[in-house]
Amino acid sequence: IPVEPFDLVIFGGTGDLARRKILPGLFRRFCAGQMPAGARIIGAARGDIGQQGYQDMIRGAINEFGAPSAESLVHLDAFIAQLHYVAIDICGDGGWGELAKLIRKDLVNAYYFSVAPSLFGDIAARLNSWDIATPEARIVVEKPFGRDLQSAKALNKVLSQQFDESQIYRIDHYLGKETVQNLMAVRFGNLLFEPLWNAQYIDHIQITVAETVGVGGRGAYYDKSGAMRDMVQNHLMQLLCLIAMEPPSHFDPDAVRDEKLKVIRSLAPVAAHHVVRGQYDATATTASYRTDAENPRSFTESYVAIKAHIENWRWAGVPFYLRTGKKLKARTSEIAIVFKKLPHSIFEKSADEKQNVLAIQLQPNEGMTLDVTIKEPGPGGMRLVHVPLDMTFADALGDHSEDTPDAYERLIMDVIRGDQTLFMRGDEVEAAWKWTDPIIEAWEARNDVPKLYDVGSAGPEDAMALIHRDGRRWREVK
Ligand code: BG6
Repeated sequence: IPVEPFDLVIFGGTGDLARRKILPGLFRRFCAGQMPAGARIIGAARGDIGQQGYQDMIRGAINEFGAPSAESLVHLDAFIAQLHYVAIDICGDGGWGELAKLIRKDLVNAYYFSVAPSLFGDIAARLNSWDIATPEARIVVEKPFGRDLQSAKALNKVLSQQFDESQIYRIDHYLGKETVQNLMAVRFGNLLFEPLWNAQYIDHIQITVAETVGVGGRGAYYDKSGAMRDMVQNHLMQLLCLIAMEPPSHFDPDAVRDEKLKVIRSLAPVAAHHVVRGQYDATATTASYRTDAENPRSFTESYVAIKAHIENWRWAGVPFYLRTGKKLKARTSEIAIVFKKLPHSIFEKSADEKQNVLAIQLQPNEGMTLDVTIKEPGPGGMRLVHVPLDMTFADALGDHSEDTPDAYERLIMDVIRGDQTLFMRGDEVEAAWKWTDPIIEAWEARNDVPKLYDVGSAGPEDAMALIHRDGRRWREVK
């Protein structure tokens, strides 16, 4: 659906995120006919590069990072013509007057803060003191949204002094992923699953976000964050919420976010022996985390596994095993709902050992499998086999990868449409830190040393033990 004409200002418009993700993403939406002719994108940054210089820079960025197809390149000139540039001094007066003149207040206006969080307050204040932002203006902020509860609260305060919560769009790009939204469609668009979606029928849930990339190039940021702050507090937490939340009354922003918040607030504090931290070690051919992060004494974790519990009626006693790590064996993100064993089997003993598993693959191949037990074909009597009912979405629905927006594209378009459903609310972010902080504080208090794991492995041994102790196994990372 095309959106209304808009003015989108990107503070930090020459930065990495803008060049790699935001502008190539907007170009794809432009090619898909979603960006109306009157829309303008205004890069705002420190350098005095001028409009032409900015347009050249973004043309280069789209070619380098956007992997444009030959057909899409015919649209590139028209897209570039919609780019403007203002040299701005975020903490001073330079450029704000020019920006004020450029903004068309009768259109949707959105401001993307693609800058360090320490600058959020200055931008927000100047957007108002220069009378630039309209009461309906939207502001977009990126993770990391703070590094603990206190800093997140401070950021929320700084933003809320100038803007209403309904104007603030906090991005977690996992919420923009196609299959993440499919989680809600599967749960609430089918009668089949929801009656079984509780402690009575579910044995445990596994959430895995395994990456093959390391931290090369981002070491300076990552080494101060680690996997807990970089992935668990936000991306894995959001997945957990969508799996565990009660059905919202409507698919509308506050109804969905209220339910997610209740899940986060119901999370039990995590016992020290229910968390495993890991750090990837060198192999003969690959560097260690410490080399990649350029910090020979780093104790930062590049892997975390957690056994979490949600203390409410629906999930009483059901462990949620979460794990995420870098430089693992394969890039796979998956949520697996493992159902309980049969209460009684009328077949041979072996059959009742197998459990139904609903696995939702987020990436790389989006789809779902449901492991079920059936009779092995043939005359051999009542022999049972366990087989996956496999539904790769691309096979079932056709390959729409060309016209499916990636997470950023979808979320930016949602900002323009004014739909906050897939954005985190301030109280959600704070609640997530409130749960995460004590885990990190406990590591810091005892100078915890992460367990080493080999590059290309499935993670540290202790993470295997975490689940084996409960008589369960991680699903294979493949
Ligand atoms: C980012 C993290 O938010 O998400 C990165 O900062 C991580 O460390 C990335 O690699 C993973 O995103 P995706 O979409 O590649 O799964």
